[in-house]
Parts: sequence; structure tokens; C-alpha cells
Amino acid sequence: MPYRVPDLRYPYDALEPYIDEATMRLHHDKHHQAYVDKANAALEDTEWEGLRPKEVLTMLDELPDEIRATVRNNAGGQYNHCMLWRSMKPGGGGDPTGALAEAVDATFGSADDLRSQMKKAGIGQFGSGYAWLVHDGSRLAVVSTPNQDNPISDGMTPLLGVDVWEHAYYLKYQNKRPDYIDAFFQTVDWETVAERFAEV
Ligand SMILES: [Fe+2]
Repeated sequence: MPYRVPDLRYPYDALEPYIDEATMRLHHDKHHQAYVDKANAALEDTEWEGLRPKEVLTMLDELPDEIRATVRNNAGGQYNHCMLWRSMKPGGGGDPTGALAEAVDATFGSADDLRSQMKKAGIGQFGSGYAWLVHDGSRLAVVSTPNQDNPISDGMTPLLGVDVWEHAYYLKYQNKRPDYIDAFFQTVDWETVAERFAEV
């Protein structure tokens, strides 16, 4: 079945004032749709058609040269944006709880320290990409990736990603990526992140 852009679980303006409605409409309806369309076109009539993005992204080496980069970028765009919409919610923010909180505190010191590391990784990502909280197989870690790469391609489990492409913030924050990252954390749905952590 071809990929599709899932509906948001909240209205486009529900993340105001942190993430503005115009950015959400453009990001979800146009940018995400473009990744989906390009991924579907590249995978159509291949043996990988029908695999989920997370499956395709763990077997990029097996794809033919002609489509590998297109699939990496656009199946990545599909996977990353589906994760992103579900990582945010109206009334989000705050700190993680439960087992995730314990792991965050043990690894980073505190939720503030985690946010600080992710912010630093997001600011430090040259050009477009993401900063991630991941489970690297043995522990939590913060990493960054370029373009639409996902840590799952490197054998890690992504738990939370902040999209630092300019399309994610430029309408409201212009060049102020640090301010956008701070605002993003006011929307994080830590329960969803904890569910991902529980499945590691
Ligand atoms: Fe994006």
C-alpha cells in the first residue's frame, strides 16, 4: 500500500503560540506530502513497495543505486514526519515521567540537561536535519542527523526528534533556530516518547 500523510490528531492551530498554524499547514500538507509522493514514485513496482518506511530505512544498502538516495530521503521524510506529528500535542511540554524520567536523569542528569543537549545538537546540525533522543542499543543518547536521515538506519531506536529544517520554523522564527527549539519542547508529548522507550 502506498504511503500516505496521516491526518493530524489535533487542529493546525492547536500548537500555537509555539508552532504557528501557517507553518503547520505548509509543513504537513505540502512538505510532508511531497516526501510521500516522491517515496511512492520511487518504490512503485519494486519489491520494496508495501514495506513500511522503518523497514525500508533499515535495508538501504539492499536498494539499487538508482533509487537508494531518493528512498533514503523520502521514505525518511515520511517516517520522520509521522513521528514528529505524534511527538507533539496541545498542552504538551513539561518533563518525562516514570521509567523514561529515570533513564533521562540517570543518563543526562535531568530533563533540563536533556533539552540542553538536544538544543545544542539541533543548533550544531549544519543545514537541514534533526536532533534526536535515541536509545543506542545500550543507553539513551542524543545524536543529530543530516537531511531526512533517521538513526534507525544506524541501528538505533529514535524516541524523539526535533526537525531543524528551515521549513519547520522559518515563517515564525526566521533565523532563530534556538528559539524554535525551545518552543518545540513546549509541545512535546512525553507520553508518546515514553511509549517508544517502553518498546525498546
Ligand atoms: Fe520537516
